[in-house]
Formats: sequence, C-alpha cells, structure tokens
Amino acid sequence: MQIEFVAADAPLAAGSAVAVLAFDKAVLSPEAARLDTESGGAVTRALGASRFTGAVGQTLDILAPVHLACGRLVVVGAGDLANLDSARLELVAAHAYQAVKTSGATQLEVRLGDVGGAQGAASAAFGLRLASYRFDRYRTTEKPEAKPSVSLVQIACTDPSGAKAAYAALAGLANAVLFARDLVSEPANILYPEAFARRVRELASLGLEVEILGEKEMQALGMGALLGVGQGSVRESQLAVLQWKGGSDPNAPPVAFIGKGVCFDTGGISLKPADGMEEMVTDMGGAAAVTGLMYALAARKAKVNAVGILGLVENMPDGNAQRPGDVVTTLSGQTVEVINTDAEGRLVLADAIWYCKERFKPRFMIDLATLTGAIIVALGKDYAGLFSNNDELADQLLAASKASGEALWRMPLPPQYDKNLDSAVADMKNVGPRYGGSITAALFIQRFVAGLPWAHLDIASTAHKPNSTVPTIPSGATGFGVRLLDRLVADHYED
Ligand code: BES
Ligand code: MN
Ligand code: ZN
Repeated sequence: MQIEFVAADAPLAAGSAVAVLAFDKAVLSPEAARLDTESGGAVTRALGASRFTGAVGQTLDILAPVHLACGRLVVVGAGDLANLDSARLELVAAHAYQAVKTSGATQLEVRLGDVGGAQGAASAAFGLRLASYRFDRYRTTEKPEAKPSVSLVQIACTDPSGAKAAYAALAGLANAVLFARDLVSEPANILYPEAFARRVRELASLGLEVEILGEKEMQALGMGALLGVGQGSVRESQLAVLQWKGGSDPNAPPVAFIGKGVCFDTGGISLKPADGMEEMVTDMGGAAAVTGLMYALAARKAKVNAVGILGLVENMPDGNAQRPGDVVTTLSGQTVEVINTDAEGRLVLADAIWYCKERFKPRFMIDLATLTGAIIVALGKDYAGLFSNNDELADQLLAASKASGEALWRMPLPPQYDKNLDSAVADMKNVGPRYGGSITAALFIQRFVAGLPWAHLDIASTAHKPNSTVPTIPSGATGFGVRLLDRLVADHYED
C-alpha cells in the first residue's frame, strides 16, 4: 500500500473513500465541517441519525454524499481535541483504514487539514502502514471481494512536505515492525533456523554487521544448553550476531538484546498436547523482535552501538532428542538437569546471554522470549512481563512502554524462590514448582547474567494476538518489542 502526503485543499478524487475527524460530543473538525457545508449538511444529518459521539474507535459511513466527488465519507472519532497527540492520530488513522479497507474503494484520503501538524500527519501515516499489514503470502484462492481494496492512501494536510520529512524518520520503524511480524507469521517449514539466519543476513544491506555461527562453532565454544535443545531436529541450530555501530566511538560498549528463536516448539520428548500446538510457530517472537529492533536502529542510523543475538533452534522429539533427566553443560560452565524438554527457551537463552556478556561486555542486556504460558495466565494477552535486576533499567523500560503503547508489567525476582531450581544431580534444574512459572524461568535466566544490568521480557502473552482489537495491530503477529526498545534506545542510550 502506497502512502502520499498531499495539500489540505487537494480536490477529492472520484470514487475514493474520504476520512474526516470528529471530536468528543461529535464536534466536527474544520475539514469535516467544510465537507458538511459542501454536501448541504450530509454529515450533520448523518450524525443526527446515529449514536456517533466522536469517541476513538467509532466511525460513521456516509455513502455517495451529494455534491462530493468521493464514493464515501467516513467520519472518524478522534476523542477530546485538547489532548489530541501523535499517538492518538496514529490510532485514528488506523481506524479509518480498518473501516474502509475492504469497502471496494481503492483510494483512501485522510483529510486532516492542520489537525496535528506535520508530526501528526506523519504519525497518521505510521498508523496506516501498521494497520495495513497482512500476511497473505500463502493464499492462492482468496475471493477478490475478501481482499483489501485500498492500495493508495493520501493524507491531506497543511504541510505535506513537512509531514513527508517527519514520516521519513518513522517509515524505517514501521518497516522494522512489519519485518518482525513477517518472521513470526512464517510457518516453521519455511522459517527454520538456517532460513531465519538467511533473512537476517540480508539486513547487511542496512549497514548491520551479521555473523552466523553454526553447530560446529557452537560446539567448539561449549554451548551445550542451546545445542541440546536443537539436538532432536534435522535443522541445524544457529546463533546470529547482529551489530550496529552507530555510536561516536565504534568501540564503546554496546547495548545488547538477546532473542529466543525457537522456530518451532513441539516440547521435544516432553511433547506438548496437539491442541493449539500450531501456535508454537510463533516461538521465535523474541528473536523476531530483536531483529526488528536492529533493523529499526540501522534504518534511522541511531547514534548507538547495539548488539542483537538470536538463538535459533527447533525443539523436536526424535531418536536423537534430548531426554528428561539429561544433564547439559552450559557455556558458562554451570550444569543443568533437563527435567522438562519443553522448558527449552531458558536453555537457549542461557548460552546466548553468556556469549553476549563474555564477548561484548555490554552496558546492559535485555532478553525477549515467548518463554512461559504462565505469563499469559498472570497478565492476560495485553501485557508482557518485565523482570529486572536493575531498577533504573526497569523504570526506563516502563517509561518506553508508556510512550510506545507496548504494555509491560513488572514482575518480582524473589531471592527465596531461587532455591526452587536446585537439582540433586547438577548445578540447577530447568523447571521449578507448578506455581509462579514465569518467575522461576526468569530466575533461571538470572543465573547467566553475572550481575550485569539485565531485563527479561516474557512476551509469550503479546507476540501473537489471534483476536486483536487494536487497529494498528491486525490479528496475528504483533511485532511486539520493536517499538518499545527503539524508544528505550532513543530516549536514553544515544550519543
Ligand atoms: N514456548 C513455550 C511458552 C509459550 C506458551 C509461548 C504459550 C506462547 C504461548 C515454552 O517453551 C514452554 O513450553 N514453556 C513451558 C514451561 C514449563 C515446561 C515449565 C510452559 O509454559 O508450559
Ligand atoms: Mn517449550
Ligand atoms: Zn518455547
């Protein structure tokens, strides 16, 4: 879908869908009022015949309004004018798109006038781009009337060139989020560890340095935990290392992000039940978010040194698969008794995090992982769990969460729970008791961060939304984490 910025007074295109804003108490925006007058009061009459109040999320369709060239006029609720900001315009524009995307109109004109200024118009474009995401690569027989019809969106505003410039700074972030969504959406027969690594390698064109370690290299290093998880798969495990050197001193310590990239999680020998197992194609959501973040940083040439590490494996049952009771030696030297082969994400992260710490001595490490079903039980589908050994980093993440709209809720790391991981035969076991499963998992990972400032985001709840009601997040892969972490870096870690 193409997005353009045009002059506020550009004539309406024949047959297009035109969106105008109305605020609380159905107060018309200047542009809505103008088209109301031109159409002899069609908008006012339509409002009078409906329960439209101007709340965000409401839309009112007026078909074939008299005296106007457009095919339909959509009044979009924009809430209270006094507090209208860019985040709201992003949502409002996305609602406009959702209201008309399959209407048959090929063109949508979002007529903002001077509402929100150039930055607001850019945010509207950003919202439209996120809203138009669709993973339809494998649909070959879809009926034309079921497909989105809108292929061109024009944003009519008083400063189109200013808006275009402001959008240039956001377009890379939008592309990054969509890149992450694609990775999560791809089925596991297509996106196995080596295929994921290939896609990451292509990001070298953005200026990222990309290295891929295979099983031989990881064997030589001693990554027994990560390799144990991938041992039952015919697909070779991979470790991807992405570097963005945008800081004024390219050798200054980087910020580091580590992603769980389980391309498919059957549970291994501790096999998951069949019902819903297909959702485990999204078990590389952490690695996708880290990839998306590195994409975003490179796309906007962020003034920061950043490292992304992806632990890419497939967790399969097999004659060669890891068994419950096996003891593996992690890269750190610590040994782990694998009680449950379905608690594999923490094993992958243990080695990826230790590698990151040893090689890069980063300022902090943040890992992202679809780690536990228990975080969904605890927080529902709208919040990811935040665990951290560092209050400053945690507070920065919570602030970035507020600003980006990607919700986090901080969870505790109670020291008295740590002994739940003690094993009779090894330094630790990989699962604890039934209750507090997300906390146990985080405490396990904490044993591999060696006191560095660290945060763990359990995104099992948010990486994938089967029934989304957020207009910028179509149902399916969300790309959760990319906007959040881009914001964190922009607000605190650039030169
Ligand atoms: N990938 C799963 C967690 C998950 C569950 C992600 C649901 C998304 C939706 C993870 O590897 C896993 O299997 N965790 C186990 C841990 C248990 C064995 C201690 C779980 O949550 O049941
Ligand atoms: Mn698992
Ligand atoms: Zn998993």
